[in-house]
Amino acid sequence: MGRAILLDKANIPGIRAFGVYRAHGGYNAAGKGLLEMTPAQVQQEVIKSGLRGRGGAGFPTGLKWSFLDRKSTRPRYLVCNADESEPGTFKDRYLMEKLPHLLIEGLILSSYALGVRTCYIYIRGEFKYLVGILETAIREAKKNNYLGEKILGTDFSLEIYVHPGAGAYICGEETALLESLEGKRGNPRIKPPFPAYKGLYDCPTVVNNVETLAAVAPVIGMGGETYSKLGFGKSTGTKLMSACGNINKPGVYEIEMGLPVEDFIYSDEYCGGIKNGKMLKAVIPGGSSVPILPADLILNTSRGEARLLTYESLAEGGFESGSMLGSGGFIVYDEDACIVRNTWNLTRFYRHESCGQCSPCREGTGWMERILYRIEHGKGRMSDIDLLVRVAKNIEGNTICPLGDAAAWPVASAIRHFRGEFEAHIK
Ligand SMILES: Cc1cc2nc3c(=O)[nH]c(=O)nc-3n(C[C@H](O)[C@H](O)[C@H](O)COP(=O)(O)O)c2cc1C
Ligand code: SF4
Repeated sequence: MGRAILLDKANIPGIRAFGVYRAHGGYNAAGKGLLEMTPAQVQQEVIKSGLRGRGGAGFPTGLKWSFLDRKSTRPRYLVCNADESEPGTFKDRYLMEKLPHLLIEGLILSSYALGVRTCYIYIRGEFKYLVGILETAIREAKKNNYLGEKILGTDFSLEIYVHPGAGAYICGEETALLESLEGKRGNPRIKPPFPAYKGLYDCPTVVNNVETLAAVAPVIGMGGETYSKLGFGKSTGTKLMSACGNINKPGVYEIEMGLPVEDFIYSDEYCGGIKNGKMLKAVIPGGSSVPILPADLILNTSRGEARLLTYESLAEGGFESGSMLGSGGFIVYDEDACIVRNTWNLTRFYRHESCGQCSPCREGTGWMERILYRIEHGKGRMSDIDLLVRVAKNIEGNTICPLGDAAAWPVASAIRHFRGEFEAHIK
């Protein structure tokens, strides 16, 4: 394990500069794609690679691209989702800060495959420091004829623009992002129509995560089939994991999919074990929106098999005993962590970030937050626990966008696995 194909160049001094990136093989994949392959062949390699979206849902990238309305005579857009606001997730900012040219190379190849001439990087408002880094890299790429008109002497032309948001978690949801990019309030749209038909300015649009798009460069560089042999089963390739909480070595790690969770937590190559020699209590493995799992279930499935860092293995057992790989935001809790306080804290976040369009999410997140507040502050009633479960159930699946589910799952899973802790607080 431990094979890096995204971050392999991250620690080369000066790698942010075009010349250094190029000298270390950067833009070779872009050259290969544009000069030796047709757009359809590039897309075919992405399909072959088995690459899946790294923004949270794990949807196959090549398949998503195949939905793009190619019959439309309107312009097509590629939008790179760099909003990264999910608590516990901080891998995209690392990638953009360290390797801005890797992302640009992935955007060039993806745009070429999709027949896009205009690409936007929608970046979280708080990432102001990254806007300059990305714009400098775009200028350098343009100066060297990797962007702009007739790239590398071909008929393919591309402009990339960086657009900072105003700092709202909901603008990471793809349709809210598109509204915001159009200059409107970032409210999610009702789907269908999907962005592939009616996206930015009602034109066919693909929205992909930063890590997904950056991965297109190594996919083309090594070929889809070689990439598909990395990883495990349907979870091909590598994944950036951002690890935080009560561990010895918080940080961003590139893992080959299929690494056992236990190795990720305890090996010195990654998290380096639990801080101060404490016991592991629980993990939220894929960013704050996914279900929390207690130590025994994050290390093993309910059938006793070792849990692996793959989309399938983490989900094994469904919501009864599984979770999700999500965006790879791996939050670790030791034996002293208070699950009630943590759940209240997360619910405060979702209540604050609800856009307010649908009643179950707008009202339900507020109710959950108030009930959890009173449990945490010694004023809870025993009936509050089932009330919380009911409110969470009534939000789930009843809203315009998945923020409602994202708010409900942490509460429902915390009660499912740690009911005793809620009861103890109330008593
Ligand atoms: C509330 C909410 C927030 C989201 N935030 C992000 C985000 O910050 N970055 C991201 O890439 N995807 C985010 N997503 C997922 C996007 O809607 C979309 O699925 C993703 O950008 C698609 O890219 P991918 O297929 O490459 O994963 C969010 C979804 C929801 C419901
Ligand atoms: S689920 Fe919440 S965030 Fe999503 S549209 Fe409805 S109110 Fe807005």
